[in-house]
Amino acid sequence: MPPRTYISDLGRHVGREVEVAGWLYNKRSSGKIHFLLIRDGTGLAQGVLVKAEVPEEVFLLGETVTQESSLTATGIVRADTRAPGGYELSLTGLKIVQLAQDYPITPKEHGTAFLMENRHLWLRSSRQHSILKVRDRIIWAVREFFRKNGFVLIDTPILTGSAAEGASTLFETQYFDLGKAYLAQTGQLYLEAACMAFGKVYCFGPTFRAEKSKTRRHLTEFWMVEPEVAFNDYVANMDLGEELVCYIVSSVLENCGEELKKLERDTKPLENIKRPFYRISYDEAVAKLQAAGSSITWGIDLGGEDETILTKMYDKPVYVHCYPKECKAFYMKLNPDNPKTVLCADLLAPEGYGEIIGGSQRADDYDELLSRLREHGLSEEAYKWYLDLRKYGSVPHAGFGLGIERTVGWICGLPHVRETIPFARMLYRLYP
Ligand code: 4AD
Ligand code: MG
Repeated sequence: MPPRTYISDLGRHVGREVEVAGWLYNKRSSGKIHFLLIRDGTGLAQGVLVKAEVPEEVFLLGETVTQESSLTATGIVRADTRAPGGYELSLTGLKIVQLAQDYPITPKEHGTAFLMENRHLWLRSSRQHSILKVRDRIIWAVREFFRKNGFVLIDTPILTGSAAEGASTLFETQYFDLGKAYLAQTGQLYLEAACMAFGKVYCFGPTFRAEKSKTRRHLTEFWMVEPEVAFNDYVANMDLGEELVCYIVSSVLENCGEELKKLERDTKPLENIKRPFYRISYDEAVAKLQAAGSSITWGIDLGGEDETILTKMYDKPVYVHCYPKECKAFYMKLNPDNPKTVLCADLLAPEGYGEIIGGSQRADDYDELLSRLREHGLSEEAYKWYLDLRKYGSVPHAGFGLGIERTVGWICGLPHVRETIPFARMLYRLYP
């Protein structure tokens, strides 16, 4: 038997006979030749089945085999620059593992609703494959970055007893006799505890928001990476975010050229992602937006539309810092220079994408945090452990959260986050 190989490794077998195992992606036939486009997860290869060169029953299988049937095929590897992947197989044998009947996603155009309903199959298409490969690379880059920089991974709980990012987006469930539990909106508060034990920490996991918004940026379940650093202020926090984003983008450019090409992503704007990014205050952002015709007034959070307008003014990501405290979470430190604002910074991705990072320096003074909790009507009892952190060796500290799906969407140049995660969870989507 010829050796089994992955399509991505065909280049090492030129001139020799190999076996590949995969699925039929597409087929073209002329009377005497079948061109079988085979995919195996690692790549695409065209198998050429010539009537005059194989036994009749093998050639007939080439006629029978349907889109997405599983198969094994043997053939001689030929280098061919015109072929997808750069190699072609002159087929010597073909076996059908299972014959697929009426695969619903045909090469013609389908609507997004139909494709989302068939997400379990849509994952096989080359565009979706490319997006999820970029996602995989981004996640690798994130882990690499933190490991190289001396951060300790802390896994924070998913079931929590209280809110961290506002009660309106909590998913709740009954937790035995202890009352209500909520799906974590963030790992941050627990990470702050770990930060006082380890200095530099990060968590990385799924987070949940019962977002009733139907926008191209919102999921109800999304993955977030959150670093937290003791003795960092909000400026050092912005530096860290810039370093992370630059690391991610250069890792994708270095390793995912083929995927970005398939996605027809113009890589020029990505090659420009180098430090320093732009930094403007919320006050400046409001002034710029008003000058550009936005109806925003001081005190209101930037809407998606505002973010889009603002990012189009810049050729690189832009931080907007020191928002009014009313727009932001209770745990952010008041700005000593203007206590109507907090020491926070959101990073907006360019080309209209908008917020990918939300971060802040944390309230580290016991009394300030206590009064902020009370302003937000939160129970002191539930946050007693969190207040403790301000009683026993409190230090200035800061951190942020980077949303993976929005980052994938931006880097891949996609119009919506629903294609950036294998199985999206949204207001009207829980299947498949
Ligand atoms: O700005 P957010 O809500 O910040 C936090 O959760 C902080 N606790 C993070 C921290 O300081 N440790 O969310 C952070 C990021 C956003 O910038 C965005 O990229 C992403 O998480 N995000 C969402 N992504 C998809 N769908 C949603 N509904 C999202 N909500 C936030
Ligand atoms: Mg935010």
